[in-house]
Amino acid sequence: MKSISYRRDKVLKKLWWKEEVVYQIYPKSFYDSNKDGIGDIQGIIEKLDYLKKLGVTSLWICPIFKSPMIDNGYDISDYIDVQDEFGTMKDLDTLIEKCKSLEIKIILDLVVNHTSHEHHWFKEALKNPEGPCGDFYIFKNGKNGKVPNNWRSIFGGSVWEPVPNRENLYYFHTFHKGQPDLNWENPNLRREIYKMINWWLEKGIGGFRIDSITFVKKDQDYLDSEIDGKDGLSSVKHKGRNRPGIEKFLYELNRETFEKYRCVTVGEAPGVPYEQYNQYIGKNGYFNMIFDFKYADIDVENGSEWFRRTNWTTKELKEKIFKSQEVFQKIGWGANFLENHDQPRSLTKYIRDKKYRNHIGAKALGCLFFFLRGTPFIYQGQELGMENFTRENINEFDDVSSIDNYNRSILEGYSEKEALNFVNLRSRDNGRTPMQWDNSSFSGFTKGDKVWLGLTNSLNINVVNQIEDINSVFTFYKKMIELRQNSNYSEDLIYGDFEQIHSDGDLIAYKRGENIVCLVNLGDSTQNIKLKVGEILLNNYKTLKIKENNIILEPYQGILITKGE
Ligand code: GLC
Ligand code: CA
Repeated sequence: MKSISYRRDKVLKKLWWKEEVVYQIYPKSFYDSNKDGIGDIQGIIEKLDYLKKLGVTSLWICPIFKSPMIDNGYDISDYIDVQDEFGTMKDLDTLIEKCKSLEIKIILDLVVNHTSHEHHWFKEALKNPEGPCGDFYIFKNGKNGKVPNNWRSIFGGSVWEPVPNRENLYYFHTFHKGQPDLNWENPNLRREIYKMINWWLEKGIGGFRIDSITFVKKDQDYLDSEIDGKDGLSSVKHKGRNRPGIEKFLYELNRETFEKYRCVTVGEAPGVPYEQYNQYIGKNGYFNMIFDFKYADIDVENGSEWFRRTNWTTKELKEKIFKSQEVFQKIGWGANFLENHDQPRSLTKYIRDKKYRNHIGAKALGCLFFFLRGTPFIYQGQELGMENFTRENINEFDDVSSIDNYNRSILEGYSEKEALNFVNLRSRDNGRTPMQWDNSSFSGFTKGDKVWLGLTNSLNINVVNQIEDINSVFTFYKKMIELRQNSNYSEDLIYGDFEQIHSDGDLIAYKRGENIVCLVNLGDSTQNIKLKVGEILLNNYKTLKIKENNIILEPYQGILITKGE
């Protein structure tokens, strides 16, 4: 960063993690180094030069721990070992080492709401209910020959699963039955978790993205809640997410682990209303940042029921983004993103006119999100403008929640065709297709003869076609990163105030600091705004039309400019 003085220096704390650009890797789909069709740690090592060239400064790596892979690693059977197909602990050490020398920090995924049913704690708890792990999970007796209550798990069906060989006893799972929830009410269990976290921090990683953390506290009465679906169940979200008492767990978690190491923490904290952001990311908050899903889920009423679609407008999107920015700015710092491994590709979601689902649309979206106040997170393939994949049959999906959403859509009365359409639009597999590197078979993701999940239809969207092309999405992202990290505008782009600019129609406009303006037309007709242009820092079109101090933005045109005199 070049200029150092900034008028808010005294009030605004400068912290290293505010100055990062994070790249999220889904290891299974990033790069396969040993021809088995599955991405691996060695594959990440081989692509570090690529990441360095792009300019990102941190990597968030989705779980690489030992796992039966029912939920692709979010079902951990050993926290301090590496899953075979991803490599070994030695590979991970090498990755950490290499990243250190390249000044890239590593953020690991921390999944502590649940483990796999194959974790030795769970096996031990079943084998020896009176033993030390007997109370590490949540066991309850059934009621009147049925499960203990009517809560629905996130991946469908009851949250309760019968304990084998034990009459009328059930264990609790917020997600899949292969992901039993840990009993955070038990202080011994919490201590074990903190020990594990500190073990990783001692290794020198930069920090954690903390998975599904708002689910750790459940209402202890475990009473039925109101039925909200045709399956006769009630979402676990009502009484099993962000419930009173969670503050005790999260303060303690922070105090016993993260705080001691001053590592970075990014919470995946669904279900937290803005009024509670202060507890999460305020001055004494549990985490440094959290993701706000309110505009990522604009196309559905909630992120886990894809058949409840909305008819959203750009105006609503604009309002949601601005509201989110306002809250983050008032309270703390945000983790901004367009995509992740649970979301469909942003091009397909946000660009409704198919004509612009190309480099123009991808750059417009990039420009819109990247310069918001907060730390930007880029999901693998987003920097190329990768799109959703349309599958013809439900059997072609791998993701557990896709199968569940298909079945629930049908139960809710939709046809098979409609159900498939919902899943195609929202499936988590959309973001999990193998990364596209070049024009060879399987887009260079593997040199073997198979892949774990089918690729997208647009194989020409790949690294080799974009990396040297000055008009590519990749080059646009590279320029955005360069501007934020290492230019005369860095100070304003990182620490400058966010301010919305009033604009009509599909135009989204905001200011960073005193002088920088981002304008994105998220619609298919031209839009005008009265504004003097100084320097054009970025433009996804070759030209910019200006008429008597009016900027005229073409459909899906996105620009970053300085204000003129
Ligand atoms: C988080 C993860 C998701 C996973 C779930 C259960 O939402 O992002 O991929 O399935 O938690 O761990
Ligand atoms: Ca492999």
